[in-house]
Amino acid sequence: MSLPPDGRDMETRIYDVSAFTEETLRLADLHGDREARRAADEALAAIGEAADALRRGGLVAFPTETVYGLGADAFCEGAVRKVYEVKGRPSDNPMIVHIARASDVAMLTPGLSPDMVRLIDAFWPGPLTLVAPKRPELPGAVTGGLGTVAMRMPDCAAAVELIRRAGSPVAAPSANISGRPSPTRGEHAVRDLDGAVDVILVGGECRVGIESTVLDVSGPSPTVLRPGIIGPDDIAAVIGREVGMDPALRGRGEALADGAGAAAPKAPGMKYRHYAPKAEMLVLEGRRDRVEGELSRLKALNEGVGRKVGVLLFDEKAFVEAAHGFFARLREMDDEGVDLILAGALSESDSLGFAVMNRMLRAAGYNVARV
Ligand code: TXA
Ligand code: MG
Repeated sequence: MSLPPDGRDMETRIYDVSAFTEETLRLADLHGDREARRAADEALAAIGEAADALRRGGLVAFPTETVYGLGADAFCEGAVRKVYEVKGRPSDNPMIVHIARASDVAMLTPGLSPDMVRLIDAFWPGPLTLVAPKRPELPGAVTGGLGTVAMRMPDCAAAVELIRRAGSPVAAPSANISGRPSPTRGEHAVRDLDGAVDVILVGGECRVGIESTVLDVSGPSPTVLRPGIIGPDDIAAVIGREVGMDPALRGRGEALADGAGAAAPKAPGMKYRHYAPKAEMLVLEGRRDRVEGELSRLKALNEGVGRKVGVLLFDEKAFVEAAHGFFARLREMDDEGVDLILAGALSESDSLGFAVMNRMLRAAGYNVARV
């Protein structure tokens, strides 16, 4: 992990906005709950400050339902460049642009295909990112020089309020230093970005826990570029035809940065080893009883030679819990000083299992053993 090149000498303002939820707002407005009103007002003031920072070309980390984002005004090229710098992110890796109203897609892309209209209707706000041709006015820095732009409307009251008040779409990759696990709790964003950004809005745990599904709708057949909680079948049901899958997603790391060739992934970000914990990581796949047996054996073996071993094993069918806890567990094990993470594979025939496995395999640098 590398620190931002410009150091971390900024005064970062950190605010808790976890009270700014649909639920609190409802309690405050409908039921006249004064405590809820006060908490919501305080959060609102913080969100207003954060929006001011965005309007002045600053950077703001904020919660979404998937993972925390690190935002900049998408139309302010200088601010967008700062995001790359702070994250240590390669500049060919484009960002997702977040909007507060579905109709704002018109600021980013010239015309909506019938598929897009249906998908937006069905899934926004929510964890589906759509890739479509970009408008020329949108700085090329946001899209890594591509002719397309990735867009989504987050399903998180604080995020939507921030974007709305900023008055401009917000380009935001995940709020981690490049290569580190994505942040799913406020303290993760603080850990990675304190001193390097203007404001961090802390809003509790992200509901989903893995990043949005990225769907390319710029070509004739919609294709999933990054799997997420919204699966290809969910998408197919809405548009009434089949959804493709970037073939690179089925690979086992052949297309990692240097080896990128015929099977290079179409989402530039997917070609990097990613989400890497500091520890070495090994994924064990096979029948559950064998995986458990091998996990215990390897754990004992490694502990016997003085290594600290962490185990990452979710219940076999607990895909939602696995998605929710995956990145947080990686960070926890780093904090505990674990040397070796032994992980049990999830079934990839479930689409959410497949999405979590995509992260798990990349976190492990495709270090997999079949048992
Ligand atoms: O849930 C999420 O999507 C989170 C929250 C903050 O919204 N954001 C996020 O952004 O995960 P990021 O930058 O970490 O991942 C964006 C992914 C990368 O793999 C990137 O390469 C891909 O989307 N992407 C962005 N624009 C693209 C484009 N025009 N064509 C293809 N892939 C694109
Ligand atoms: Mg990311």
